[in-house]
Amino acid sequence: ARITLRQLLDHAAERGYGVPAFNINNMEQGLAIMEAAAAVDAPVIIQASRGARSYAGDIMLSKMIDALEEMYPQIPLCLHQDHGNDEATCATAIKYGFTSVMMDGSLKADAKTAADYEYNVDITRRVTDMAHWVGASVEGELGVLGSLEHGGGEQEDGHGLEGTVSRDQLLTDPDQAVDFVRATKVDALAIAMGTSHGAYKFSRQPDGDILAMNVIEEIHRRLPNTHLVMHGSSSVPQALQDVFNQFGGEMPQTWGVPVEEIVRGIRHGVRKVNIDTDCRLAMTAIFRKVGAQSKVEFDPRKFLKPAMDSMRELCRERFEQFGAAGNA
Ligand code: G3H
Ligand code: 13P
Ligand code: NA
Ligand code: ZN
Repeated sequence: ARITLRQLLDHAAERGYGVPAFNINNMEQGLAIMEAAAAVDAPVIIQASRGARSYAGDIMLSKMIDALEEMYPQIPLCLHQDHGNDEATCATAIKYGFTSVMMDGSLKADAKTAADYEYNVDITRRVTDMAHWVGASVEGELGVLGSLEHGGGEQEDGHGLEGTVSRDQLLTDPDQAVDFVRATKVDALAIAMGTSHGAYKFSRQPDGDILAMNVIEEIHRRLPNTHLVMHGSSSVPQALQDVFNQFGGEMPQTWGVPVEEIVRGIRHGVRKVNIDTDCRLAMTAIFRKVGAQSKVEFDPRKFLKPAMDSMRELCRERFEQFGAAGNA
C-alpha cells in the first residue's frame, strides 16, 4: 500500500528504527527491493532521481511502481523524488504518484551566503505549501554534503572542494536547522553530517569517527518532529569491490560509510538512509563476473537475474541492520 514519508517515518521514530531509501531506475532494481522487503517484512522507500525519471520515463516508472505495489500489497511503500531541483519537478512527481518529494534548495548553493539560504527557504516553503495541500510529504536539505576527511564538500556532482572549506563550515548548523524547519514546515530534513555521494567517500579506512554525532543529536533534540535524513550512506562493501575488480574492473580502492556508523546515526535520530551506490555496485560487479566467466553468453537475463539476486541480498541486509525488518 502506498503511504507518505511522514506516515512511514513517524512509525520509524516511534519504534526507533531507520529506513533505507533505495534509488531505482529499472524493473530489476524494483523487484530486488520488494523481494528483500517481503522476505524480512520491512516497509519500503523507493526513490527516483531526475535522472531515473528521464531514463525510465515517468509513465514507465510510475506504472512499474503500481505493479510492485500490486505484487506486494502487504508492504507499505513510499515513492519519493530524490534531489528535486525546482517546483515543477516536485509537482510532476506528485502527479505521477510520488507520495513524497525532496526539494533540494541547497543544490544551487555554492557557498553559505545569506542569499543562498533565503533562496533555499523560499523555494522549499513553496513546495511544502503545494505538497501538503495534496497530502504529500517534503524533505528539505540544509548544508553541503562533503567528506570530512577531505576537509571539503562536493557540489553534489562528485567534484570535491578539497581544502577550501573547513569541517565545521560543512556541517549543518543546528540554529539554522531550527529556523529552516520553522520557516518551511518540511517533514524531513537532510543534513550535512559527514557523508558524501558516490563510491569515493574516503581514501583510507575510516577510523570510526566520521559522522558528526553531536550535530545529529542536537538537531534531533531540538527538532524531534522532523525526521533526519542521511544522504551518501553507501558502505561500498569490500567484497563487492573485490568481485568488480577480480573480473576486469578497475575501481580504485575506496571506503564508504561503515554500517555500524549508520546504526549509531540511527540511534541518534537518523530515520531515512539514502543508498544508491551500493545497489549499483551489487549489480554491476555481477555483470562483470558473468561477462568474464561466460564469454559466449548473450541472454541479458543470465546477467540480470544473478545481479538482481545480489542487490536483493544487499537490500535485505540493510533492512535488517537498520531495524526496519519486522516493521511492515
Ligand atoms: O544522489 C544521487 C543519486 O545517487 C542518484 O544519482 O542522478 O545518477 O540518478 P543519479
Ligand atoms: P550513495 O552515493 O552513498 O549511495 O548516496 C545516495 C544518495 O544520497 C541519494 O540521494
Ligand atoms: Na546540499
Ligand atoms: Zn543524495
